[in-house]
Amino acid sequence: MELINLQIRALLEEPDMIAALANVSACIFEQWNGLNWAGFYLVKNGELVLGPFQGRTACTHIPFDRGVCGLTFTSKLPQRIQDVLSFPGHIACDSASRSELCVPVLVRGECVMEIDLDAPVEGYFTEEMEKEMLQAAEDIASAYLQHHW
Ligand code: SME
Repeated sequence: MELINLQIRALLEEPDMIAALANVSACIFEQWNGLNWAGFYLVKNGELVLGPFQGRTACTHIPFDRGVCGLTFTSKLPQRIQDVLSFPGHIACDSASRSELCVPVLVRGECVMEIDLDAPVEGYFTEEMEKEMLQAAEDIASAYLQHHW
């Protein structure tokens, strides 16, 4: 398993959800040089609400039918966008962002939160990085059940 996934697993031993996710976002932000944003959107009351993150001030509420994050929720599939300027409906929280990787965390088949990452260059995210975040999402889903989040 990749180092980043081992580190994330260790951080997910923390039983408090906000504390654990705050450290997971910091871990990804530190490990992957070149990100300008790394964090979580949590599914709450029928919308996506900003969770723990590293980076600049971001959108706090995102409807399920808007942006890369909304498509991740409705499709339940990771969205790896090489050029956000060509993605219709992309929500530019930070105008510096050029590529984005958003991965759903599925618990019993339902999206409960998303990992969202932005980079200020086009095509930053590789297939390998997507796999590592899919692994992270699985581990977060396990922690979610184990810690009763
Ligand atoms: N770009 C996202 C919004 C969240 S920010 O990137 C932190 C979107 O289009 O849904």
